[in-house]
Amino acid sequence: MTAPVSIIFGATGGIGSETARLLSRRGHQLVLVARNKDKLEKLAKELHEATGGASPACAIQTADIVRSTAVDDVFDKVTDQYGGVDHVAHCVGSIVLKPITSVTDALLQETLQLNTASAFYVLRAACKHLPRVRSNAGHEPVDKSVVLCTSAVSMHGLPNHEAIAAAKAGVIGMAQSAAASYAPRGLRVNCVAPGMTDTPLASFITNRSTARKASEALHPLGRIGRAEQVASAIVLLLENPFITGQVLAVDGGLSTLVSQHAAR
Ligand SMILES: NC(=O)c1ccc[n+]([C@@H]2O[C@H](COP(=O)([O-])OP(=O)(O)OC[C@H]3O[C@@H](n4cnc5c(N)ncnc54)[C@H](OP(=O)(O)O)[C@@H]3O)[C@@H](O)[C@H]2O)c1
Repeated sequence: MTAPVSIIFGATGGIGSETARLLSRRGHQLVLVARNKDKLEKLAKELHEATGGASPACAIQTADIVRSTAVDDVFDKVTDQYGGVDHVAHCVGSIVLKPITSVTDALLQETLQLNTASAFYVLRAACKHLPRVRSNAGHEPVDKSVVLCTSAVSMHGLPNHEAIAAAKAGVIGMAQSAAASYAPRGLRVNCVAPGMTDTPLASFITNRSTARKASEALHPLGRIGRAEQVASAIVLLLENPFITGQVLAVDGGLSTLVSQHAAR
């Protein structure tokens, strides 16, 4: 059986790299995408060595995905090289914790570009490329999928998250619309919504004891998440052929439950 071809945008980040590790162990042909080439090469080497060379060698591509042409270029190259794409994970974004009155136009544009527009570019390219059936000689239904990272803060009002909540709510909207548009063609689209997760992105909170404790207390489970916990949800959504149009919160209850820790 041919290995599924999977592109991970933000592959060297906390959540992206754990997703890459899980998919590599599951035998996917990975295409790792981020801006920093050295980090991509290091991860590709680690993944290849971790399976004793049993997994297919990862391809790497540098791209700044706030530019749509860079995203299209990745899909064109992967399609040329492998004949198609099966799964796509978008693990690029930011955390913006600032009162709305301090959010400048420039910060708002930057937040929307990195979190919403880049997800849109990836989703649009996937909708162009994935429904093109790579190999369906048998009678198996076509199953292609995209997972986008939104955030728990887009579904639950937390103070001083207006900019990132706006950006990440847009990600949910585009995912659900595309899921409806492309379900007849075998393309599934889902989101994961992490709570605070221990990654380089969140280190400005997790490395500061007071801020970390305050964040832990906001989560009903009383702790922040680990990147591999979000990654395993991404893999589930990428691979389960009967899930589409869903937002899976991996957030210790943050988006739906009242925390009993906050008042202590
Ligand atoms: N960590 C959390 O607490 C948390 C909470 C809620 C939602 N999320 C969401 O989860 C997703 C993953 O977050 P994370 O914590 O894993 O982030 P991270 O550790 O900062 O990783 C981000 C990844 O994206 C790449 N990247 C950044 N800007 C890029 C650009 N313009 N073009 C291409 N690649 C770019 C980075 O590599 P280069 O710098 O080399 O490009 C890196 O591989 C994001 O959408 C984030 O908003 C995270």
